[in-house]
Amino acid sequence: MKFNILTIFPRLFDSFLQESLIKKSIDKKLIDFNVVNIRDFTVDKHKTVDDTSYGGGPGMVMKIEPIYKALKSIKKKKKSKIILLTPAGKQFNQNMAQEFSKLDELIFVCGRYEGIDARIDNFIDEKISIGSYVLNGGEIAAQVIIESVFRLIPGTLGNIKSLEEETFSITSNTNFEYPQYTRPEVFEVGNKKHKVPKILLSGDHKKIKEYRASH
Ligand code: ADE
Repeated sequence: MKFNILTIFPRLFDSFLQESLIKKSIDKKLIDFNVVNIRDFTVDKHKTVDDTSYGGGPGMVMKIEPIYKALKSIKKKKKSKIILLTPAGKQFNQNMAQEFSKLDELIFVCGRYEGIDARIDNFIDEKISIGSYVLNGGEIAAQVIIESVFRLIPGTLGNIKSLEEETFSITSNTNFEYPQYTRPEVFEVGNKKHKVPKILLSGDHKKIKEYRASH
C-alpha cells in the first residue's frame, strides 16, 4: 500500500518514517511513502503557497493551484482515495481504518488550519477529522490515520493473534484492553509492594480469560 502526503512541512514526516514498525514495513516493501512538498509546485520566485482571503478577514488561505498540481503529479493507483484533513471532516474511527487498509493507496492533503481554498472540494474524495479539537495543520492527523491503517496490513505486525483479539474487542466494543503485567512479580516503591494479580500467575487459562474479560 502506498501513502502519499501533500504538505508544506515535509520534514514533519522524517522521524515518523524512520522509526519502529513503519520503518520495518517500508524496508519489507509492505508499504511505501511519497511525501510531496506542495511548495515545489509553485511558480513564483517566493514559492508562495498562501494568500489573503477574498472578502477579507484574518489569516491566510492556502492557494488551490499548487495543491492541484501536486495532486496531478501523483500517478494514481486503481483503488485510491484522496483525503483532506480538516477538523470539519467526518470523525475517523477503527472501521474507517479497516476500509482504508484494503485500498492500494491513500493520498492525504494536509492543509494548515487557517484555511484552504474551498475549491479543493472538487479534487478530493473525503474530508476527515481525527477529533473535535483544532491542530495547526493536517500533518499529525495524517500520521494518526497512517499509523492505524498500516498496522492492519498483513505482515506489518509480528503477532497476528494480537491483531485478531484487538479487532474483536473494538468491533464488539467490549474488553477493549485488559490490564497487562510483566516482570517483576513484585515492584517495591519505598515500603509499598505493587503486586501482579495472583490469578495471572496461576497458569489457569480459563480463570485468566475470565479475569481479563471482567477488567
Ligand atoms: N487539521 C486541524 N485540526 C484537525 C483535526 N482535528 N483533524 C484533522 N485535521 C485537522
